[in-house]
Amino acid sequence: MSTVPGKLYGVGLGPGDPNLMTVAAVKAIASADVVAYHSARHGRSIARSIAAEHLREDHIEERLVYPLTVETTDHPGGYRGALDDFYEEAAARLAAHLDAGRTVAVLAEGDPLFYGSYQHMHKRLADRYDTTVIPGVTSVSAAAARLGEPLCEAEEVLTIIPGTLPEDELTARLAGTDSAVVMKLGRTFPTVRRALERAGRLDDARYVERAFMAGERTEKLTDVDPSTVPYFSVAVLPSRIDQQPPVRETGEVTVVGTGPAGAPWLTPSRAAPSSTPTSSSATPPTSTGSPSCAPARSATAPTTRSSPSAPSSPSTWPGAATGSRSSPAATRASSPWRRRSSKWPANRSTRTCPYGSSPG
Ligand SMILES: C[S@@+](CC[C@H](N)C(=O)[O-])C[C@H]1O[C@@H](n2cnc3c(N)ncnc32)[C@H](O)[C@@H]1O
Repeated sequence: MSTVPGKLYGVGLGPGDPNLMTVAAVKAIASADVVAYHSARHGRSIARSIAAEHLREDHIEERLVYPLTVETTDHPGGYRGALDDFYEEAAARLAAHLDAGRTVAVLAEGDPLFYGSYQHMHKRLADRYDTTVIPGVTSVSAAAARLGEPLCEAEEVLTIIPGTLPEDELTARLAGTDSAVVMKLGRTFPTVRRALERAGRLDDARYVERAFMAGERTEKLTDVDPSTVPYFSVAVLPSRIDQQPPVRETGEVTVVGTGPAGAPWLTPSRAAPSSTPTSSSATPPTSTGSPSCAPARSATAPTTRSSPSAPSSPSTWPGAATGSRSSPAATRASSPWRRRSSKWPANRSTRTCPYGSSPG
């Protein structure tokens, strides 16, 4: 008589506090014959400690002990090869239980499919055995909760970055995002700090160590002593949607519409020297002065690209002298903060064409 294979669970446990385990996680552990968890060679397992109160005497515990991490290995495939062998052997041990009809729960700190070791078991077993993954609260959510600050809002982009990336890539990613969480700190911390500085985001950065675990700490990242940073910590760039946009040192462009020929083409404000800020001559030139603008069609009914909020006084007529600051719309188009549209003041006209409509 053939045995019905057991079921595999990848069980997310949340960031550390057992109160953040889901009901589904507790039920999966309760239903399991075998409880498996990864651990370093010292033997301690964060995942096991989170789930400890749900483990029973009759649970078979499978401790999956990682090979060396920082030390050298004589494996012909190097550290990568040693890891692959380890995952193969670990999966084979779990497969033996499953083949014997035993239900196996693999414990995972945080979420199992989010930078979790469980994934290596999943890839080797899920196509052969009935498998259910139970999601867990990630360290990303845990860190934001502990900071008590929104992480990303509206159209902001959140980027999750392993701190193990090279400094240049970290810098580029941090410069190109709204919010970010940098994982896997510890020895990577000085590089991550430099990248935040180069990206111009250091002052925004927060630090969360051991969220929802014993020894928890939250700080401004600039206040952190790099020698104290453990692996179980993240750097966070929270939502910046409520920050003021940076003040840009920009010049001012003044566009003066002079009309094509003579005084009849002048608008009232242009014709009255006292209300013409930048006029220096009463004699109109023979060209429009702006190759991108259409020729004049009407002296009295100018059409512009002004937004509806632009005041309709003579001083905004295309023939009048008009000060046009570097417009919010133009700035948004090139700014990484371009999604903050609702925070910008109402638009003013981007450019002014003399006496007529713009060709487009
Ligand atoms: C291998 S990843 C595991 C991620 C985990 N599966 C999750 O869902 O968050 C380990 C990294 O997660 C982060 N991390 C995990 N738990 C954390 C916690 N309680 N507090 C702060 N960072 C944590 C750290 O950056 C650590 O280097």
